[in-house]
Amino acid sequence: MLQGEKVILRAVSREDITRLWAFNNDVQVELAGGGDPPIPQSLERLYAEFDQNAGQGGRNGTSFVIEADGQCIGQCALFNFNPTARTCELGITIGDRAYWGRGYGREALRLLVDYAFRLQNFRKVWLTVHGDNERAIHAYKAVGFEEEGRLRAQVWSDGKYVDLVYMGLLREA
Ligand SMILES: CC(C)(COP(=O)(O)OP(=O)(O)OC[C@H]1O[C@@H](n2cnc3c(N)ncnc32)[C@H](O)[C@@H]1OP(=O)(O)O)[C@@H](O)C(=O)NCCC(=O)NCCS
Repeated sequence: MLQGEKVILRAVSREDITRLWAFNNDVQVELAGGGDPPIPQSLERLYAEFDQNAGQGGRNGTSFVIEADGQCIGQCALFNFNPTARTCELGITIGDRAYWGRGYGREALRLLVDYAFRLQNFRKVWLTVHGDNERAIHAYKAVGFEEEGRLRAQVWSDGKYVDLVYMGLLREA
């Protein structure tokens, strides 16, 4: 649906589920992605969730697969829509670690932010990231996100407390 030079952002298909399942069960990927502590996830549950959404005719236009070299390498999404302030939260995970640090995330972020501003008319996109996730922070800054705040030692992750960093990007910026 959204075409870049190295990546395409498109809807999740049933064929992607086994790749997404592998990503969701990669502890290193899950830890970097933030959120709750990693838990084992069954393939059946992922299929059931997919089928439930598809069965409802749900058209979740905010969640994308990141495709590169003809295969799913991760996912990204916009969520927490605030229609009054016209803000939304962004999340991204490249689950195939072979694609880390090679500019794929940055391009996916540019496509997603452009989608948020130009097609969805959001005014601001924001996100949270663990303070020790230097790769992610580097990529976010490269597309224009700025640090807006930091909750110190807010999250327990991988045996230690880490800061929770808030970053934002204004359309006008
Ligand atoms: C975060 C993520 C989307 C970034 O995508 P990516 O394709 O790896 O990032 P990019 O290659 O576009 O940019 C990363 C930048 O950080 C740099 N970098 C890589 N590893 C780094 C490290 N350990 N420390 C500091 N900088 C690092 C890269 O050199 C690159 O900068 P440069 O192009 O100026 O040299 C991806 O790594 C990912 O999904 N990681 C796992 C899940 C995750 O962390 N999600 C974000 C949760 S908030």
